[in-house]
Amino acid sequence: MSTFRSDLLDGQVAWVTGAGSGIGATIATTLAAHGALVVATGRKADRLEETAGAIRAAGGRAEVAPADVRDPAALEELVRGIGERHGRLDITIAGAAGNFLAPAASLSPNGFGTVVDIDLKGTFHTCRAAHPLMMRGGGGVIVTITATLQYTGTPFQAHASAAKAGVDALTRTLAVEWGPVGIRVVGIAPGPIADTPGMSKLAPGDVMDRVARAIPLQRLGTRDDVAQGVLFLVSPAASWVSGAILVVDGGQWLAGGLGQGLMP
Ligand code: HXC
Ligand code: NAP
Repeated sequence: MSTFRSDLLDGQVAWVTGAGSGIGATIATTLAAHGALVVATGRKADRLEETAGAIRAAGGRAEVAPADVRDPAALEELVRGIGERHGRLDITIAGAAGNFLAPAASLSPNGFGTVVDIDLKGTFHTCRAAHPLMMRGGGGVIVTITATLQYTGTPFQAHASAAKAGVDALTRTLAVEWGPVGIRVVGIAPGPIADTPGMSKLAPGDVMDRVARAIPLQRLGTRDDVAQGVLFLVSPAASWVSGAILVVDGGQWLAGGLGQGLMP
């Protein structure tokens, strides 16, 4: 049950990276359930088909467009295709990311670089590819998916924290540069979200329970908590919101973040 009208996004086209699983899949299905045609991107076509299938089964519209966000030319080509098929792009969700737990001292340069390539550079490539088509239609909204990891010192997350801090900076900078052409650029920063690959990787087993107990609102977030935040950000209710990063974390980072929870 959504707080928002089901025709909120009627006639709009939304491109979602990371749409084949986890939070990105829920954002994709939620945007479609509110009227948007969703173009779903990730590397694995079969997972994107699952998301698109769920959208279509619920009466929505979805297309699958596999790509690696580390390949800027592929993203440019993908957006050219959206332009040819639909003539517009209203919403871009930059959600693709990669992560793993690794102590900084033993993290290889390529391990650090891989996460920066996907999370930070991939977000830049996505925003840059979306820009011309969004601008041509008079503007729209870009939502980056960041995190709260970097607000505190989160152990074993040097790579992801550095990358997401860069995403925050990029979000603010693009909001300033692209505001005049009608593109709002905002971020959403989830805390620990249940039933996601991210939390399964970062908080295996009983770490998940410890993390949940330390959250002021006394529970992990849900994928829908994040999707509802995204709906607000892309809705007319947020039409004067740009450069802001909406934290959806139950108060977790203010209470210390993941730090102690992840330490052995
Ligand atoms: C140490 C690791 C590692 C690990 C990979 N590497 N996994 N190092 N510990 N567990 C190193 C490799 O050894 C290699 O370095 C380099 O990283 C690249 O690894 P590849 O496997 O070749 O990379 P690739 O196939 O491109 O896969 C990228 C990936 C993978 C990030 C490693 O896990 C992936 O595709 N993930 C996508 C899904 C995902 O991670 N979702 C979670 C997002 S959650 P060397 O030096 O050996 O060559 C998230 C949560 C945020 O962001 C906050 C939660 C609270
Ligand atoms: P997830 O399901 O693994 O989401 C990451 C998605 O990105 C996957 O669908 C993956 O699909 C795609 N992806 C990864 N590398 C890619 C690449 N190079 N090119 C294109 N797509 C790529 O994990 P999640 O936990 O739901 O996380 C979703 C987002 O929320 C991420 O941005 C994450 O950093 C953020 N976040 C999550 C949490 C949490 O608690 N889970 C907390 C804070 C922030 P393919 O493998 O098919 O490419």
